[in-house]
Amino acid sequence: MSNAFARNRPLWIAGALTVAVMVLVFIAGWLFGSGSEKKDEARREVAAQKAHVVAPDSALGRTDRRQIDALRRGIPIDQEAAPQPLWHVQNMDVKRERAYPMQPPTIPHAIDGYQVGRNSNRCMLCHARANAEKFQAPPVSVTHYMDRDDQFLATISSRRYFCNQCHVVQTDAPLLVGNTFQTIDAVLAAAEAGTATAEAAKGRP
Ligand code: HEC
Ligand code: HEC
Repeated sequence: MSNAFARNRPLWIAGALTVAVMVLVFIAGWLFGSGSEKKDEARREVAAQKAHVVAPDSALGRTDRRQIDALRRGIPIDQEAAPQPLWHVQNMDVKRERAYPMQPPTIPHAIDGYQVGRNSNRCMLCHARANAEKFQAPPVSVTHYMDRDDQFLATISSRRYFCNQCHVVQTDAPLLVGNTFQTIDAVLAAAEAGTATAEAAKGRP
């Protein structure tokens, strides 16, 4: 027996080491496992709190617009949400107010099938300075011809080439989340009338 041990000594040591490593891995797994259980518990708690706060929005079956989970609408992750209706693009040539001077105006017409790619820019067919008269479209403003050093280019700036980066069509979709945004005109009018909120008085709309 002792002879056999002496002969197989490296084997025995390897075996003992393997067992030791397995024990260590088991302990580590147990420690981390209990940690993630705690995290799961915390997550469940947060979810329960949210579910408690969240109430349904009128148009989407909800009334509380303050909740921020506009896409999942507070529906638990293990339940499938009924898809929201697709809203209609308004194609009525009626412009909407710009909320502030540098807001990219929303597009008052449909843009189905208008391609903007490497070889052509359908929007510029009508909105380029040279074509605007023919199509009675407003030409893109001078900012669309400026490069990043404020130099004016002869053709549309690459910074403004992909129109839909900034301009979106107008739809009849209701607001997903509420907000308290006021235009600067409203803030100034309120300040003048002396009914400005504390924030507006500090110059923060
Ligand atoms: C067939 C010509 C045509 C094409 C193509 C076209 N537009 Fe227009 N666009 C117009 C006309 C005309 C108006 C003026 C309002 C109206 O009649 O709808 C306009 C208005 C706009 C406005 C509103 C400007 C303002 O001052 O409020 C924006 C923004 C706009 N278009 C963006 C686009 C974008 C982005 C594309 C490409 C996806 C595009 N347009 C393609 C003709 C066109
Ligand atoms: C990086 C954002 C951005 C991109 C990209 C962009 N625009 Fe604009 N656009 C704006 C902003 C901001 C305004 C309003 C202020 C201004 O004129 O610069 C505007 C204004 C306009 C206006 C109204 C011009 C006027 O004089 O009132 C039209 C029309 C327009 N854009 C069309 C386009 C078209 C067509 C494209 C694509 C070729 C395009 N825009 C790409 C940001 C953008």
